[in-house]
Amino acid sequence: MSFRILGTGSCLPARILTNNELSEILDTSDEWISQRVGIKERRICTTETTADLAYGAATAALEKSGISPECLDMIICATVSSDSAAPSLACAVQAMLGARCPAMDVNAACSGFIYALETAAGFFARGAKNILVIGAERLSGLVDWSDRSTAVIFGDGAGAMVLGEGNSYISSKLFARGNSSVLSIPSHRGSSPFYEHDADTPFIHMNGQETYKFAVNAMCKDLSDVVSAAGLAMADINWVVPHQANARIIDASAAKLGIPQERCLKNIERVGNTSAASIPILTDELLRSGKLRDGEYIAMCSFGAGLTSAACIIKV
Ligand code: ACO
Repeated sequence: MSFRILGTGSCLPARILTNNELSEILDTSDEWISQRVGIKERRICTTETTADLAYGAATAALEKSGISPECLDMIICATVSSDSAAPSLACAVQAMLGARCPAMDVNAACSGFIYALETAAGFFARGAKNILVIGAERLSGLVDWSDRSTAVIFGDGAGAMVLGEGNSYISSKLFARGNSSVLSIPSHRGSSPFYEHDADTPFIHMNGQETYKFAVNAMCKDLSDVVSAAGLAMADINWVVPHQANARIIDASAAKLGIPQERCLKNIERVGNTSAASIPILTDELLRSGKLRDGEYIAMCSFGAGLTSAACIIKV
């Protein structure tokens, strides 16, 4: 027994930040960002916390699924930008929902949502009936707003899925290769006078070109692996839901795999890169668009700091 999707939801902060606005505070331009990354605008928190976004996505997913918070057996949040190191984001959402189930966070950076789905599948194998899985990020709090190479890429948002018993999760793959030189977000070092490491800036650090190479390779290999593990061919996949890191990464990978553009979904132009939230936000848009038909196959794939990557096939 694995799971099926009972309902999805998403929540974006109200404030839209356009490339033109960014070019007023950074040495950048709408043309550079659109061409190199594929983003026109992103959403940025002003008053919303990560927990507010996660709660907004969760309530929408619960409403769609018809499941009440008391019926949840577990809440799993994928995030790198929780409001606090402890309690977890999942515990904050559990309190806001008035749920009573266990709750915990998963950190696999941008691959976090698929890692959380895999974790949920393990709980279904042990008898869970309903699990809420959320990806939520407030990356605007982790960006160095004087660094034009990263500040233009990231956005804030949350997406959620309510999962119930079923057999929709038909193949999956998780990958990790420890390496902090390509992508990292150092934590605050604290104020211990005894700690001898140099202080590092607690912002997103990215080697763009190495990230690009890792991402295209990971997306091509992981998608091929989960498609063949499911006994399918790439042509059988109706919808590809890739992590929205960068439109060029998505387009290059889709071209290498022979996936037609109309089946490889993107919302990065409007939403930016929301790390662990990007796959559930895009899946929610797909489900609410009415385009998805019963029996269709969705392939999800992601890659991020760790380095991590992950992919899965869901039959709806
Ligand atoms: N606006 C204008 N110019 C910029 C900007 C900006 N926002 N950022 C960098 N530049 C400049 C650089 O300073 C450099 O100028 P120089 O030639 O005078 O030195 C020039 O643009 C080219 O810089 P590169 O870093 O070589 O640019 P590149 O062509 O590699 O593009 C990019 C950078 C878009 C980040 C690219 O490497 C890329 O797509 N990498 C993938 C990174 C990514 O997608 N990360 C997503 C987040 S991680 C994740 O989700 C897993």
